[in-house]
Amino acid sequence: MTRTCLAVVLAAGDATRMKSSRSKVLHEVGNLPLIAHVTNAAARAGVNDIALVVGRDADAVTSAAQIGHQLPVTPVMQTERKGTGHAVLMAREVISQGYDDVVVLYGDAPLINPESLEAAIASRTAGADVVVLGFRAGDPSGYGRLIEKDGELVAIREHRDASPEELAIDFCNGGIITFSGTQAVDLLEAIGNDNSKGEYYLTDIVEIARARGLKCVAVEAPEEDMMGCNTRAELAEIEAVWQARARHQAMISGVSMMDPATVYLSHDTDIAGDVTIEPNVWFGPGVTVGQGAVIHAFSHLEGTTIGAHAQIGPFARLRPGAELGEKAKVGNFCEVKKARIGEGAKVNHLSYVGDAIVGAGANIGAGTITCNYDGQNKHLTEIGARAFIGSNSSLVAPVRIGEGAFVASGSVVTSEVPDDALAVARARQETKPGYAARLRERISAIKALKASSGS
Ligand code: UD1
Ligand code: MG
Repeated sequence: MTRTCLAVVLAAGDATRMKSSRSKVLHEVGNLPLIAHVTNAAARAGVNDIALVVGRDADAVTSAAQIGHQLPVTPVMQTERKGTGHAVLMAREVISQGYDDVVVLYGDAPLINPESLEAAIASRTAGADVVVLGFRAGDPSGYGRLIEKDGELVAIREHRDASPEELAIDFCNGGIITFSGTQAVDLLEAIGNDNSKGEYYLTDIVEIARARGLKCVAVEAPEEDMMGCNTRAELAEIEAVWQARARHQAMISGVSMMDPATVYLSHDTDIAGDVTIEPNVWFGPGVTVGQGAVIHAFSHLEGTTIGAHAQIGPFARLRPGAELGEKAKVGNFCEVKKARIGEGAKVNHLSYVGDAIVGAGANIGAGTITCNYDGQNKHLTEIGARAFIGSNSSLVAPVRIGEGAFVASGSVVTSEVPDDALAVARARQETKPGYAARLRERISAIKALKASSGS
């Protein structure tokens, strides 16, 4: 029989210490909102439904919580912050639908691995009524301490309510607690607020459950999984851990990185095997890289598809809508935006190619610019297969350069160049034999005159 599981995700915090104009859980790690990391971990761990406890920015938080997975998300409002126990009870109606397991997660702890969640749920399946995910804290201050006896969890004591002996415990509550969906409302309603903060502590559920003869246990998870975000400094620490994990995953699946610590990935970066990434490369959202491609140093990529064995950079900028075919090359100081670069086509130096379709095998010379914007609208530049665009050309869109056509260097192309035609759109060169020598003589004569007159 398959069990049903509801995740109650707490995301109603005011996040004062973030000093932010938006909810903390909307801040991003790996270019994905914190809240989406949490809901995606829940989805991967086999959760069936999500109840999202929201406060500030409720609509935006609810939308962000739905990115990347298919689970239904039911938002419930917590208008007043009265503690974690109170927050979970806001989802009373959803909880009452009778799930086998309810797991409480924090929206500001995005590093939780599905495996850790699965371990907690497995412990419920094995017979525990309440399971708390704990971790050994390097510095336990501020955390609730897990008090164990004979292999069972006896209580969770919040730091500010703990005795000196309890404070010496380094086994801490990571914040993830799972219990039976049928017992949940009963247990939660028994929580009071008689403590130093006057809040309803979810953690009191352990002592309440034990008093009713229920079994509580703690399951240990890595400290990293439990990292919470309260300040922007902590957000950066979490980003660092997330990036290290993502790079490791990429390298394990066949991607080479010379200096991984300088490569920044996004949650959806999709890199095939045998890709080489040189130092200092940034992957924004929506990048896919095909087999065997090479991304040279200092490239900045976003919303881009890179074909197999293509070569990018060094110092290339690929903006949203750049689609590079197999073996295409975009070299140093080039910017490509919303443009298809055909198989084997080359944009090697100092070019801007935007709103364009470049055919297979075309060569775009150094300094070529697609003049795509007239101040109000963007226009398309079409460059046919095997066309050759001479260096320092401006292609004034809308314009089409035919297949196999040739544009002479320095041209400003404003009208169609048919297939296999040559366009020269620049002033004709005028050459005057001997003029340079005569010019030099004149300049020398003027200089000599000035020197003799003493001026
Ligand atoms: C909580 C735990 C503590 C644990 C620590 C781990 C309790 C009483 N304490 O403490 O044992 O070691 O997390 O990080 O649970 N929230 C709401 N509404 C509320 C209160 C909180 O949505 O009314 C949300 C917060 O936004 C946050 C989460 O619940 O995401 C935890 O609340 P927080 O105030 O950070 O609890 P801690 O004091 O850190
Ligand atoms: Mg906290």
